[in-house]
Amino acid sequence: MSQQFDVVVIGGGPGGYVAAIRAAQLGFSAACVDAFKNPEGKPSLGGTCLNVGCIPSKALLQSSENFHAVQHDFAKHGISVSGAKMDVGQMLSRKTDIINKNAAGIGFLFKKNKVANIHGLAAFKGRQGEKWVIEVTDGGKVVDTLEAVHVIVATGSSPRALPGLATDNQLVLDNEGALALTAVPKRLGVIGAGVIGLEMGSVWKRLGAEVTILEAAPTFLAAADQQIAKEAFKTLTKDTGLDIKLGVKIGEVKAGKKSVSVSYELNGEAVKAEFDKLIVSIGRVPNTQGLGAETVGLALDERGFVAVDDHCHTNLPNVWAIGDVVRGPMLAHKASEEGVAVAERIAGQKPHVDFGVIPWVIYTSPEIAWVGKTEEQLKAEGVEYKKGTSGFGANGRALGLGQAQGTVKILADAKTDRILGLHMIGPMVSELVSEGVVSMEFKAASEDLARIVHAHPSLSEVIHEAALAADKRALHG
Ligand code: FAD
Ligand code: NAI
Repeated sequence: MSQQFDVVVIGGGPGGYVAAIRAAQLGFSAACVDAFKNPEGKPSLGGTCLNVGCIPSKALLQSSENFHAVQHDFAKHGISVSGAKMDVGQMLSRKTDIINKNAAGIGFLFKKNKVANIHGLAAFKGRQGEKWVIEVTDGGKVVDTLEAVHVIVATGSSPRALPGLATDNQLVLDNEGALALTAVPKRLGVIGAGVIGLEMGSVWKRLGAEVTILEAAPTFLAAADQQIAKEAFKTLTKDTGLDIKLGVKIGEVKAGKKSVSVSYELNGEAVKAEFDKLIVSIGRVPNTQGLGAETVGLALDERGFVAVDDHCHTNLPNVWAIGDVVRGPMLAHKASEEGVAVAERIAGQKPHVDFGVIPWVIYTSPEIAWVGKTEEQLKAEGVEYKKGTSGFGANGRALGLGQAQGTVKILADAKTDRILGLHMIGPMVSELVSEGVVSMEFKAASEDLARIVHAHPSLSEVIHEAALAADKRALHG
Protein backbone atom coordinates (compact mmCIF):
# COMPACT_ATOMS: atom_id res chain seq x y z
CA MET A 1 0.00 0.00 0.00
CA SER A 2 1.49 3.35 -1.05
CA GLN A 3 1.69 6.31 1.28
CA GLN A 4 -0.14 9.34 -0.20
CA PHE A 5 1.20 12.90 -0.09
CA ASP A 6 0.55 16.25 -1.71
CA VAL A 7 4.30 16.91 -1.95
CA VAL A 8 7.26 14.52 -1.83
CA VAL A 9 10.72 16.07 -1.65
CA ILE A 10 13.66 13.91 -2.74
CA GLY A 11 16.76 14.96 -0.80
CA GLY A 12 17.11 16.33 2.72
CA GLY A 13 19.82 18.97 2.19
CA PRO A 14 19.30 22.73 2.66
CA GLY A 15 17.18 22.77 -0.51
CA GLY A 16 15.03 19.73 0.24
CA TYR A 17 14.42 19.97 3.98
CA VAL A 18 13.50 23.65 3.74
CA ALA A 19 11.14 22.97 0.81
CA ALA A 20 9.42 20.19 2.81
CA ILE A 21 8.96 22.39 5.89
CA ARG A 22 7.61 25.31 3.81
CA ALA A 23 5.20 22.97 1.97
CA ALA A 24 3.90 21.65 5.31
CA GLN A 25 3.53 25.19 6.66
CA LEU A 26 1.38 25.99 3.63
CA GLY A 27 -0.99 23.15 4.54
CA PHE A 28 0.25 20.35 2.27
CA SER A 29 0.88 16.81 3.44
CA ALA A 30 4.62 16.55 2.82
CA ALA A 31 7.35 13.93 2.97
CA CYS A 32 11.11 14.26 2.64
CA VAL A 33 13.13 11.25 1.51
CA ASP A 34 16.86 11.36 2.15
CA ALA A 35 19.52 8.71 1.61
CA PHE A 36 22.49 10.16 3.52
CA LYS A 37 24.09 7.97 6.19
CA ASN A 38 26.78 9.25 8.56
CA PRO A 39 30.05 7.33 9.16
CA GLU A 40 28.25 5.32 11.88
CA GLY A 41 25.76 4.17 9.25
CA LYS A 42 22.93 6.20 10.73
CA PRO A 43 20.59 8.45 8.70
CA SER A 44 21.62 12.08 9.05
CA LEU A 45 19.52 14.88 7.57
CA GLY A 46 21.00 18.10 6.20
CA GLY A 47 22.65 16.82 3.03
CA THR A 48 26.12 17.78 1.86
CA CYS A 49 25.91 21.16 3.56
CA LEU A 50 25.45 19.88 7.08
CA ASN A 51 27.24 16.53 6.93
CA VAL A 52 30.25 17.05 4.67
CA GLY A 53 30.17 20.67 3.51
CA CYS A 54 29.39 24.13 4.86
CA ILE A 55 29.03 23.37 8.55
CA PRO A 56 31.90 20.92 9.24
CA SER A 57 34.27 23.02 7.12
CA LYS A 58 33.48 26.12 9.15
CA ALA A 59 33.93 24.17 12.40
CA LEU A 60 37.43 23.09 11.31
CA LEU A 61 38.29 26.55 10.00
CA GLN A 62 37.51 27.99 13.45
CA SER A 63 39.56 25.32 15.26
CA SER A 64 42.54 25.96 13.01
CA GLU A 65 42.22 29.74 13.41
CA ASN A 66 42.18 29.34 17.18
CA PHE A 67 45.31 27.18 17.04
CA HIS A 68 47.01 29.78 14.87
CA ALA A 69 45.92 32.63 17.15
CA VAL A 70 47.22 30.97 20.30
CA GLN A 71 50.63 30.53 18.67
CA HIS A 72 50.94 33.80 16.77
CA ASP A 73 48.51 36.42 18.07
CA PHE A 74 47.99 35.97 21.81
CA ALA A 75 51.46 37.23 22.76
CA LYS A 76 50.59 40.67 21.35
CA HIS A 77 47.77 40.83 23.90
CA GLY A 78 50.17 40.00 26.70
CA ILE A 79 48.92 36.45 26.97
CA SER A 80 51.68 33.90 27.02
CA VAL A 81 50.91 30.31 26.20
CA SER A 82 53.61 27.78 25.74
CA GLY A 83 53.49 24.29 24.34
CA ALA A 84 50.16 24.66 22.49
CA LYS A 85 49.27 21.32 20.94
CA MET A 86 46.65 20.28 18.44
CA ASP A 87 44.50 17.28 19.24
CA VAL A 88 43.04 16.50 15.81
CA GLY A 89 40.76 13.81 17.26
CA GLN A 90 39.16 16.32 19.63
CA MET A 91 38.79 18.82 16.78
CA LEU A 92 36.95 16.18 14.73
CA SER A 93 34.71 15.14 17.58
CA ARG A 94 33.70 18.80 18.14
CA LYS A 95 32.86 18.94 14.42
CA THR A 96 30.78 15.75 14.70
CA ASP A 97 28.89 17.12 17.72
CA ILE A 98 27.92 20.22 15.74
CA ILE A 99 26.70 18.09 12.81
CA ASN A 100 24.69 15.76 15.07
CA LYS A 101 23.10 18.67 16.92
CA ASN A 102 21.98 20.34 13.69
CA ALA A 103 20.84 17.09 12.05
CA ALA A 104 18.72 16.24 15.09
CA GLY A 105 17.33 19.79 14.88
CA ILE A 106 16.05 19.12 11.35
CA GLY A 107 14.38 15.92 12.59
CA PHE A 108 12.72 17.97 15.33
CA LEU A 109 11.53 20.57 12.78
CA PHE A 110 10.07 17.77 10.64
CA LYS A 111 8.11 16.46 13.64
CA LYS A 112 6.96 19.96 14.59
CA ASN A 113 5.74 20.67 11.05
CA LYS A 114 4.39 17.13 10.48
CA VAL A 115 6.76 16.38 7.59
CA ALA A 116 7.10 12.61 7.10
CA ASN A 117 10.80 11.82 7.50
CA ILE A 118 11.63 8.86 5.25
CA HIS A 119 15.10 7.38 4.97
CA GLY A 120 16.26 5.77 1.73
CA LEU A 121 17.04 6.28 -1.92
CA ALA A 122 14.06 7.56 -3.90
CA ALA A 123 13.42 6.85 -7.59
CA PHE A 124 10.61 7.75 -9.97
CA LYS A 125 8.66 4.63 -10.95
CA GLY A 126 5.90 6.13 -13.09
CA ARG A 127 2.56 7.89 -12.87
CA GLN A 128 -0.72 6.70 -11.34
CA GLY A 129 -3.46 9.02 -12.60
CA GLU A 130 -2.60 12.51 -11.26
CA LYS A 131 0.13 11.20 -9.00
CA TRP A 132 3.81 10.39 -9.34
CA VAL A 133 4.90 7.05 -7.94
CA ILE A 134 8.17 7.07 -6.01
CA GLU A 135 9.90 3.94 -4.77
CA VAL A 136 12.22 4.13 -1.78
CA THR A 137 15.00 1.59 -1.29
CA ASP A 138 17.56 1.12 1.46
CA GLY A 139 20.48 -1.23 0.98
CA GLY A 140 18.90 -2.43 -2.28
CA LYS A 141 15.59 -3.41 -0.62
CA VAL A 142 12.32 -1.61 -1.29
CA VAL A 143 11.25 -0.02 2.00
CA ASP A 144 8.41 2.26 0.89
CA THR A 145 6.28 3.35 -2.04
CA LEU A 146 4.97 6.89 -2.11
CA GLU A 147 2.47 8.67 -4.32
CA ALA A 148 2.42 12.43 -4.64
CA VAL A 149 0.84 15.14 -6.78
CA HIS A 150 4.01 17.21 -6.65
CA VAL A 151 7.62 16.05 -6.49
CA ILE A 152 10.54 18.34 -5.69
CA VAL A 153 13.91 16.92 -6.73
CA ALA A 154 16.64 18.23 -4.39
CA THR A 155 19.27 15.51 -4.76
CA GLY A 156 22.28 17.85 -4.64
CA SER A 157 25.74 17.21 -6.04
CA SER A 158 28.84 15.04 -5.62
CA PRO A 159 32.53 15.80 -6.06
CA ARG A 160 33.86 15.69 -9.61
CA ALA A 161 36.65 13.12 -9.84
CA LEU A 162 39.85 13.63 -11.78
CA PRO A 163 39.58 11.28 -14.81
CA GLY A 164 41.42 8.03 -14.14
CA LEU A 165 42.03 8.74 -10.45
CA ALA A 166 39.97 6.90 -7.86
CA THR A 167 39.09 8.69 -4.63
CA ASP A 168 39.76 6.38 -1.67
CA ASN A 169 39.52 9.04 1.05
CA GLN A 170 42.74 7.63 2.50
CA LEU A 171 45.35 9.13 0.17
CA VAL A 172 43.18 10.76 -2.50
CA LEU A 173 40.50 12.80 -0.81
CA ASP A 174 37.30 14.56 -1.79
CA ASN A 175 35.51 16.98 0.56
CA GLU A 176 34.45 14.10 2.82
CA GLY A 177 38.02 12.88 3.27
CA ALA A 178 39.44 16.40 3.57
CA LEU A 179 37.10 17.03 6.51
CA ALA A 180 37.99 13.80 8.27
CA LEU A 181 41.82 13.57 8.26
CA THR A 182 42.83 12.10 11.59
CA ALA A 183 46.35 13.58 11.55
CA VAL A 184 47.98 16.61 9.96
CA PRO A 185 49.71 15.48 6.75
CA LYS A 186 53.26 16.73 6.23
CA ARG A 187 52.82 17.45 2.52
CA LEU A 188 49.28 18.16 1.37
CA GLY A 189 48.53 18.58 -2.33
CA VAL A 190 45.30 20.14 -3.53
CA ILE A 191 44.08 20.09 -7.13
CA GLY A 192 41.80 23.10 -7.77
CA ALA A 193 42.13 26.53 -6.16
CA GLY A 194 38.37 26.99 -5.87
CA VAL A 195 36.35 27.46 -2.74
CA ILE A 196 36.99 24.01 -1.23
CA GLY A 197 40.69 24.03 -2.11
CA LEU A 198 41.23 27.39 -0.43
CA GLU A 199 39.13 26.66 2.66
CA MET A 200 40.46 23.15 3.30
CA GLY A 201 43.99 24.15 2.30
CA SER A 202 43.85 26.94 4.91
CA VAL A 203 42.67 24.56 7.65
CA TRP A 204 45.47 22.06 7.19
CA LYS A 205 48.11 24.73 6.54
CA ARG A 206 47.31 26.44 9.86
CA LEU A 207 47.57 23.07 11.60
CA GLY A 208 51.07 22.57 10.21
CA ALA A 209 50.90 20.98 6.75
CA GLU A 210 52.90 22.26 3.78
CA VAL A 211 50.11 22.96 1.30
CA THR A 212 50.55 23.15 -2.47
CA ILE A 213 47.49 24.06 -4.54
CA LEU A 214 47.58 23.29 -8.26
CA GLU A 215 45.09 25.29 -10.30
CA ALA A 216 44.44 24.88 -14.03
CA ALA A 217 43.10 28.38 -14.66
CA PRO A 218 45.62 31.18 -15.21
CA THR A 219 43.42 33.59 -13.23
CA PHE A 220 42.92 33.29 -9.47
CA LEU A 221 39.25 33.23 -8.40
CA ALA A 222 38.01 34.19 -11.85
CA ALA A 223 34.42 34.67 -10.62
CA ALA A 224 35.45 37.25 -8.02
CA ASP A 225 36.21 40.93 -8.59
CA GLN A 226 39.84 40.87 -9.68
CA GLN A 227 41.01 43.69 -7.40
CA ILE A 228 39.80 41.67 -4.42
CA ALA A 229 41.06 38.39 -5.95
CA LYS A 230 44.56 39.86 -6.36
CA GLU A 231 44.62 41.02 -2.75
CA ALA A 232 43.35 37.59 -1.68
CA PHE A 233 46.09 35.83 -3.65
CA LYS A 234 48.75 37.94 -1.97
CA THR A 235 47.36 37.39 1.53
CA LEU A 236 46.75 33.66 1.12
CA THR A 237 50.20 33.03 -0.31
CA LYS A 238 52.26 35.47 1.82
CA ASP A 239 50.41 35.42 5.17
CA THR A 240 48.58 32.09 5.24
CA GLY A 241 51.49 30.46 3.44
CA LEU A 242 49.57 28.51 0.80
CA ASP A 243 51.73 27.69 -2.23
CA ILE A 244 49.24 28.36 -5.03
CA LYS A 245 50.37 27.57 -8.56
CA LEU A 246 48.18 28.91 -11.38
CA GLY A 247 48.01 27.77 -15.01
CA VAL A 248 48.98 24.21 -14.15
CA LYS A 249 48.34 21.31 -16.51
CA ILE A 250 47.87 18.16 -14.47
CA GLY A 251 49.42 15.06 -16.02
CA GLU A 252 49.72 11.62 -14.46
CA VAL A 253 48.53 11.25 -10.88
CA LYS A 254 49.49 7.99 -9.19
CA ALA A 255 48.50 6.83 -5.74
CA GLY A 256 51.20 4.66 -4.15
CA LYS A 257 51.06 2.87 -0.79
CA LYS A 258 51.85 5.87 1.38
CA SER A 259 51.89 8.88 -0.93
CA VAL A 260 50.56 10.27 -4.18
CA SER A 261 52.72 11.52 -7.03
CA VAL A 262 51.44 14.28 -9.26
CA SER A 263 53.09 15.14 -12.55
CA TYR A 264 52.20 18.52 -13.96
CA GLU A 265 53.31 21.15 -16.40
CA LEU A 266 53.88 24.74 -15.32
CA ASN A 267 55.14 27.45 -17.68
CA GLY A 268 56.25 24.78 -20.13
CA GLU A 269 58.25 22.89 -17.51
CA ALA A 270 57.52 19.35 -16.38
CA VAL A 271 57.31 18.99 -12.58
CA LYS A 272 56.75 15.93 -10.38
CA ALA A 273 55.56 16.39 -6.83
CA GLU A 274 54.99 13.89 -4.03
CA PHE A 275 52.25 14.40 -1.45
CA ASP A 276 51.23 12.49 1.68
CA LYS A 277 47.58 13.33 0.95
CA LEU A 278 45.92 14.82 -2.11
CA ILE A 279 42.61 16.70 -2.07
CA VAL A 280 40.80 16.80 -5.40
CA SER A 281 38.47 19.81 -5.42
CA ILE A 282 37.75 20.56 -9.07
CA GLY A 283 34.03 21.25 -8.85
CA ARG A 284 30.92 19.16 -8.34
CA VAL A 285 28.48 17.24 -10.52
CA PRO A 286 24.69 16.97 -10.12
CA ASN A 287 23.21 13.84 -8.49
CA THR A 288 20.80 12.38 -11.04
CA GLN A 289 21.92 8.76 -11.12
CA GLY A 290 19.45 6.26 -9.69
CA LEU A 291 16.68 8.85 -9.63
CA GLY A 292 14.69 7.15 -12.39
CA ALA A 293 14.86 10.26 -14.58
CA GLU A 294 14.86 8.13 -17.71
CA THR A 295 11.90 6.02 -16.47
CA VAL A 296 9.61 9.05 -16.50
CA GLY A 297 11.38 11.17 -19.14
CA LEU A 298 12.71 13.85 -16.77
CA ALA A 299 14.87 16.07 -19.00
CA LEU A 300 18.47 16.89 -18.12
CA ASP A 301 20.40 19.78 -19.67
CA GLU A 302 23.58 19.41 -21.72
CA ARG A 303 25.73 19.41 -18.55
CA GLY A 304 23.65 16.74 -16.79
CA PHE A 305 21.71 19.05 -14.45
CA VAL A 306 17.94 18.62 -14.19
CA ALA A 307 16.61 21.12 -16.76
CA VAL A 308 14.34 23.74 -15.19
CA ASP A 309 12.74 27.06 -16.11
CA ASP A 310 13.04 30.27 -14.07
CA HIS A 311 10.54 28.87 -11.55
CA CYS A 312 12.40 25.56 -11.04
CA HIS A 313 9.72 23.68 -12.98
CA THR A 314 10.99 20.69 -14.99
CA ASN A 315 9.63 19.38 -18.30
CA LEU A 316 7.19 17.12 -16.37
CA PRO A 317 3.90 18.31 -14.86
CA ASN A 318 4.22 19.07 -11.13
CA VAL A 319 7.85 17.94 -10.99
CA TRP A 320 10.23 20.62 -9.71
CA ALA A 321 13.96 20.68 -9.05
CA ILE A 322 16.08 22.94 -6.83
CA GLY A 323 19.56 23.46 -5.41
CA ASP A 324 22.82 21.96 -6.63
CA VAL A 325 21.04 19.58 -9.03
CA VAL A 326 19.92 22.54 -11.19
CA ARG A 327 21.72 25.46 -12.89
CA GLY A 328 23.06 28.37 -10.88
CA PRO A 329 25.57 28.68 -8.06
CA MET A 330 26.08 25.64 -5.83
CA LEU A 331 25.32 27.41 -2.57
CA ALA A 332 23.21 26.30 0.38
CA HIS A 333 21.28 29.57 0.67
CA LYS A 334 20.45 29.50 -3.05
CA ALA A 335 19.10 25.93 -2.61
CA SER A 336 16.96 26.94 0.39
CA GLU A 337 15.51 30.00 -1.31
CA GLU A 338 14.56 27.93 -4.35
CA GLY A 339 12.94 25.40 -2.00
CA VAL A 340 10.79 28.06 -0.35
CA ALA A 341 9.87 29.56 -3.73
CA VAL A 342 8.79 26.20 -5.19
CA ALA A 343 6.62 25.33 -2.16
CA GLU A 344 4.97 28.75 -2.41
CA ARG A 345 4.46 28.42 -6.16
CA ILE A 346 2.76 25.03 -5.60
CA ALA A 347 0.47 26.89 -3.18
CA GLY A 348 -0.44 29.35 -5.95
CA GLN A 349 1.73 32.21 -4.71
CA LYS A 350 4.08 34.26 -6.92
CA PRO A 351 7.48 34.07 -5.19
CA HIS A 352 10.68 35.37 -6.75
CA VAL A 353 14.36 34.52 -6.21
CA ASP A 354 16.65 37.28 -7.42
CA PHE A 355 19.76 35.58 -8.78
CA GLY A 356 21.45 38.97 -9.10
CA VAL A 357 21.73 39.37 -5.33
CA ILE A 358 22.94 36.01 -4.08
CA PRO A 359 25.90 36.55 -1.73
CA TRP A 360 29.14 34.57 -2.08
CA VAL A 361 31.51 33.96 0.80
CA ILE A 362 34.87 32.21 0.93
CA TYR A 363 35.74 31.51 4.55
CA THR A 364 39.48 31.95 4.36
CA SER A 365 41.23 34.28 6.79
CA PRO A 366 40.64 37.06 5.98
CA GLU A 367 37.26 36.20 4.50
CA ILE A 368 36.26 37.07 0.94
CA ALA A 369 32.65 38.02 0.17
CA TRP A 370 30.68 39.68 -2.56
CA VAL A 371 27.27 40.34 -4.00
CA GLY A 372 26.30 41.69 -7.41
CA LYS A 373 28.44 42.49 -10.41
CA THR A 374 32.24 42.64 -10.48
CA GLU A 375 34.12 45.48 -12.15
CA GLU A 376 35.11 43.08 -14.93
CA GLN A 377 31.46 42.18 -15.59
CA LEU A 378 30.39 45.83 -15.69
CA LYS A 379 33.17 46.66 -18.15
CA ALA A 380 32.23 43.69 -20.36
CA GLU A 381 28.58 44.79 -20.32
CA GLY A 382 29.53 48.39 -21.13
CA VAL A 383 27.86 49.71 -17.97
CA GLU A 384 29.14 53.09 -16.81
CA TYR A 385 29.94 52.87 -13.13
CA LYS A 386 31.68 54.65 -10.33
CA LYS A 387 33.49 53.02 -7.45
CA GLY A 388 34.51 53.71 -3.90
CA THR A 389 37.05 51.74 -1.90
CA SER A 390 38.14 51.77 1.71
CA GLY A 391 40.45 49.60 3.78
CA PHE A 392 40.27 47.93 7.19
CA GLY A 393 43.81 49.14 8.02
CA ALA A 394 42.74 52.15 10.07
CA ASN A 395 39.39 50.80 11.31
CA GLY A 396 39.40 50.89 15.12
CA ARG A 397 37.33 47.74 15.57
CA ALA A 398 39.51 45.78 13.11
CA LEU A 399 42.65 47.00 14.92
CA GLY A 400 41.18 45.91 18.24
CA LEU A 401 40.42 42.50 16.79
CA GLY A 402 43.96 42.28 15.45
CA GLN A 403 42.58 41.83 11.94
CA ALA A 404 43.11 45.22 10.34
CA GLN A 405 43.62 43.94 6.84
CA GLY A 406 41.46 44.04 3.75
CA THR A 407 39.39 46.20 1.43
CA VAL A 408 35.78 47.04 0.69
CA LYS A 409 34.81 48.12 -2.81
CA ILE A 410 31.42 49.43 -3.78
CA LEU A 411 30.31 49.74 -7.40
CA ALA A 412 27.41 51.99 -8.36
CA ASP A 413 25.76 53.10 -11.57
CA ALA A 414 27.48 56.28 -12.81
CA LYS A 415 24.17 58.04 -13.54
CA THR A 416 21.59 56.67 -11.09
CA ASP A 417 24.03 55.81 -8.27
CA ARG A 418 22.20 52.50 -7.77
CA ILE A 419 24.49 49.95 -6.08
CA LEU A 420 25.58 47.29 -8.56
CA GLY A 421 28.09 45.34 -6.48
CA LEU A 422 29.85 45.11 -3.13
CA HIS A 423 33.19 43.27 -2.95
CA MET A 424 35.19 42.66 0.16
CA ILE A 425 38.14 40.95 1.72
CA GLY A 426 38.58 41.39 5.46
CA PRO A 427 37.46 40.34 8.93
CA MET A 428 33.92 38.92 9.19
CA VAL A 429 32.95 40.10 5.72
CA SER A 430 30.68 37.01 5.64
CA GLU A 431 28.45 39.04 7.96
CA LEU A 432 29.08 42.45 6.36
CA VAL A 433 27.99 41.26 2.91
CA SER A 434 24.38 41.21 4.13
CA GLU A 435 24.43 45.01 4.15
CA GLY A 436 25.09 44.88 0.41
CA VAL A 437 22.39 42.23 -0.14
CA VAL A 438 19.75 44.23 1.74
CA SER A 439 20.75 47.48 0.01
CA MET A 440 20.63 45.91 -3.43
CA GLU A 441 17.29 44.18 -2.75
CA PHE A 442 15.86 47.58 -1.80
CA LYS A 443 17.49 49.14 -4.88
CA ALA A 444 19.53 51.50 -2.73
CA ALA A 445 21.99 54.07 -4.06
CA SER A 446 25.54 54.31 -2.75
CA GLU A 447 24.49 57.65 -1.27
CA ASP A 448 21.92 55.81 0.87
CA LEU A 449 24.72 53.76 2.45
CA ALA A 450 26.80 56.91 2.83
CA ARG A 451 23.97 58.63 4.73
CA ILE A 452 23.01 55.69 6.97
CA VAL A 453 24.41 55.85 10.52
CA HIS A 454 26.88 53.03 11.14
CA ALA A 455 27.84 52.06 14.70
CA HIS A 456 31.26 53.08 15.97
CA PRO A 457 33.56 51.32 16.33
CA SER A 458 32.41 48.63 13.96
CA LEU A 459 33.70 46.82 10.89
CA SER A 460 30.68 48.12 8.95
CA GLU A 461 32.19 51.62 9.06
CA VAL A 462 34.47 50.48 6.24
CA ILE A 463 31.39 49.98 4.03
CA HIS A 464 30.19 53.45 5.05
CA GLU A 465 33.56 54.92 4.13
CA ALA A 466 33.61 53.07 0.76
CA ALA A 467 30.15 54.49 0.00
CA LEU A 468 31.40 58.00 0.87
CA ALA A 469 34.42 57.39 -1.36
CA ALA A 470 32.11 56.52 -4.27
CA ASP A 471 30.91 60.13 -4.00
CA LYS A 472 34.51 61.37 -3.60
CA ARG A 473 33.89 62.53 -0.05
CA ALA A 474 35.62 59.92 2.10
CA LEU A 475 36.25 61.31 5.58
CA HIS A 476 39.10 59.04 6.59
CA GLY A 477 40.67 58.18 3.26
P1 FAD B 1 22.67 18.50 -0.85
O1 FAD B 1 23.03 19.29 0.34
O2 FAD B 1 23.74 17.84 -1.62
O3 FAD B 1 21.61 17.45 -0.39
C1 FAD B 1 21.10 16.47 -1.23
C2 FAD B 1 20.68 15.28 -0.38
O4 FAD B 1 19.92 14.40 -1.22
C3 FAD B 1 21.82 14.47 0.18
O5 FAD B 1 21.58 14.14 1.53
C4 FAD B 1 21.81 13.20 -0.68
O6 FAD B 1 22.27 12.06 0.03
C5 FAD B 1 20.34 13.07 -0.96
N1 FAD B 1 20.00 12.29 -2.17
C6 FAD B 1 20.61 12.30 -3.38
N2 FAD B 1 19.94 11.48 -4.24
C7 FAD B 1 18.90 10.96 -3.54
C8 FAD B 1 17.85 10.08 -3.87
N3 FAD B 1 17.71 9.58 -5.09
N4 FAD B 1 16.96 9.75 -2.90
C9 FAD B 1 17.07 10.26 -1.64
N5 FAD B 1 18.04 11.12 -1.28
C10 FAD B 1 18.94 11.47 -2.23
N6 FAD B 1 27.57 26.38 0.40
C11 FAD B 1 27.38 27.55 1.04
O7 FAD B 1 26.40 28.25 0.73
N7 FAD B 1 28.23 27.96 2.03
C12 FAD B 1 29.29 27.23 2.40
O8 FAD B 1 30.04 27.63 3.30
C13 FAD B 1 29.53 26.00 1.74
N8 FAD B 1 30.57 25.23 2.08
C14 FAD B 1 30.76 24.04 1.46
C15 FAD B 1 31.86 23.27 1.82
C16 FAD B 1 32.08 22.07 1.20
C17 FAD B 1 33.28 21.23 1.62
C18 FAD B 1 31.17 21.60 0.21
C19 FAD B 1 31.38 20.26 -0.46
C20 FAD B 1 30.08 22.35 -0.17
C21 FAD B 1 29.86 23.58 0.45
N9 FAD B 1 28.80 24.40 0.10
C22 FAD B 1 28.61 25.60 0.73
C23 FAD B 1 27.85 24.00 -0.94
C24 FAD B 1 26.58 23.42 -0.30
O9 FAD B 1 26.93 22.32 0.51
C25 FAD B 1 25.58 23.02 -1.37
O10 FAD B 1 25.35 24.09 -2.24
C26 FAD B 1 24.28 22.58 -0.74
O11 FAD B 1 24.47 21.51 0.15
C27 FAD B 1 23.26 22.18 -1.82
O12 FAD B 1 22.08 21.80 -1.21
P2 FAD B 1 21.08 20.76 -1.87
O13 FAD B 1 19.93 20.65 -0.93
O14 FAD B 1 20.82 21.14 -3.26
O15 FAD B 1 21.87 19.38 -1.96
P1 NAI C 1 35.07 25.33 -7.56
O1 NAI C 1 34.27 25.38 -8.80
O2 NAI C 1 34.93 26.40 -6.57
O3 NAI C 1 36.62 25.30 -7.94
C1 NAI C 1 37.17 24.30 -8.73
C2 NAI C 1 38.52 24.78 -9.21
O4 NAI C 1 39.21 23.69 -9.80
C3 NAI C 1 38.42 25.87 -10.29
O5 NAI C 1 39.23 26.95 -9.93
C4 NAI C 1 38.86 25.17 -11.55
O6 NAI C 1 39.49 26.04 -12.45
C5 NAI C 1 39.81 24.13 -11.00
N1 NAI C 1 39.99 22.96 -11.86
C6 NAI C 1 39.04 22.29 -12.56
N2 NAI C 1 39.60 21.25 -13.20
C7 NAI C 1 40.91 21.26 -12.88
C8 NAI C 1 42.00 20.41 -13.22
N3 NAI C 1 41.86 19.35 -14.01
N4 NAI C 1 43.21 20.71 -12.71
C9 NAI C 1 43.39 21.77 -11.89
N5 NAI C 1 42.38 22.60 -11.55
C10 NAI C 1 41.17 22.34 -12.02
O7 NAI C 1 34.81 23.89 -6.96
P2 NAI C 1 35.10 23.25 -5.53
O8 NAI C 1 36.15 24.01 -4.81
O9 NAI C 1 35.27 21.80 -5.80
O10 NAI C 1 33.74 23.48 -4.78
C11 NAI C 1 32.50 23.03 -5.36
C12 NAI C 1 31.41 23.98 -5.05
O11 NAI C 1 31.03 23.86 -3.68
C13 NAI C 1 31.78 25.44 -5.21
O12 NAI C 1 31.62 25.88 -6.54
C14 NAI C 1 30.81 26.13 -4.33
O13 NAI C 1 29.63 26.35 -5.04
C15 NAI C 1 30.56 25.11 -3.24
N6 NAI C 1 31.30 25.53 -2.04
C16 NAI C 1 30.96 26.72 -1.45
C17 NAI C 1 31.63 27.17 -0.36
C18 NAI C 1 31.26 28.48 0.21
O14 NAI C 1 30.20 29.00 -0.15
N7 NAI C 1 32.05 29.06 1.11
C19 NAI C 1 32.71 26.40 0.25
C20 NAI C 1 33.02 25.20 -0.48
C21 NAI C 1 32.31 24.78 -1.57
